Amino acid sequence: MGWNSWNRFGPFVSERLVLEIADALVESGMRDAGYRYVVIDDAWEGSLREDDELVPSLWKFPRGMRALADDVHARGLKFGIYTCAGTRTCQGYPASAGYEERDARRFVEWGADFVKIDWCNTHGLDARAKYANWSEAFRAVGRPMVFSICEWGRNRPWEWAGTLGHLWRTASDIQDRWDSVLSTLERQAAIAEHAGPDHWNDPDMLEVGNGGMTDDEYRAHFSLWAILAAPLIAGNDVRAMSAATREILTAPEVIAVDQDSAGMQGRRLRENEGRQVWARRLADGSHAVVLLNASDAAAAMRVSWAELGRPPAVAAVVRDLWERQDVGTFNESYEASVAPHAAHMVKVSSR
Ligand code: GLA
Repeated sequence: MGWNSWNRFGPFVSERLVLEIADALVESGMRDAGYRYVVIDDAWEGSLREDDELVPSLWKFPRGMRALADDVHARGLKFGIYTCAGTRTCQGYPASAGYEERDARRFVEWGADFVKIDWCNTHGLDARAKYANWSEAFRAVGRPMVFSICEWGRNRPWEWAGTLGHLWRTASDIQDRWDSVLSTLERQAAIAEHAGPDHWNDPDMLEVGNGGMTDDEYRAHFSLWAILAAPLIAGNDVRAMSAATREILTAPEVIAVDQDSAGMQGRRLRENEGRQVWARRLADGSHAVVLLNASDAAAAMRVSWAELGRPPAVAAVVRDLWERQDVGTFNESYEASVAPHAAHMVKVSSR
């Protein structure tokens, strides 16, 4: 869990922004809700390497990265940085092809705890081999490092990236729109079995709070990322978020599903005209369920104990994870009315 600059700020990153966000993560309670990694995405770089080393833009990061990372660490947060496997980053800045060991060492000197490696301008490179180079480079530097693989699912990374990195993007970039959440979700349905502790499918960073969706839609987006065991990387302006955005991003029982120790990614049980039932088995034997209504009309939606793999004749307690209260005890199934473009999220457990 963490924050990344890209979704909200694009190339407009700076030391000042990062420090203000770090402060806001602490003050808003997001750090304590679990958001620890502060990741600077593309466009932090200066326009050229100096003595073969990557250097930050002096205008944006006047004190350099080490001082900034120290300040981030002093706030009880972790520091993340970005580069690209190709010859230039996606924004056209110097990137890392041929400099893997050197740049991995550089990031360690700066105190990085997380590195995202993008895939623009990689003509002729083999993704699996290149990300294996990076994996070796990170292992060699001797500092624990989260390695985020970002080739957009082009080369089926779920089949090979689990031994190389900790998370890998499964789809192209998310947009701050409901149809983008749905199409990103679609890519996750068939690859659940490849995710687990320390090796996660990454459907991309959160758009919660960026303004393009309703709060119901953002709640659904967050519910779905939790059922998918997805990395929760906030992408909003934490300094100026609404109370509703803050409540969504810090919902403790939804986050607990995301972070469940069994690390099993949820699966889609059913789909019918935009109405989807997703479920995930949790470490304590209970089930988290998302009833997603992507249609334009309210709908009564049901999940049965049998389809969850629970004994149908045994009554179960249903708890609303957004309201944080038990709804009641039910036999065989549970039904709820779900608003259009919204999700209802519950936990089903033995009495
Ligand atoms: C790619 C990545 C994004 C972001 C941008 C930065 O599109 O998929 O997440 O890092 O590059 O340029």
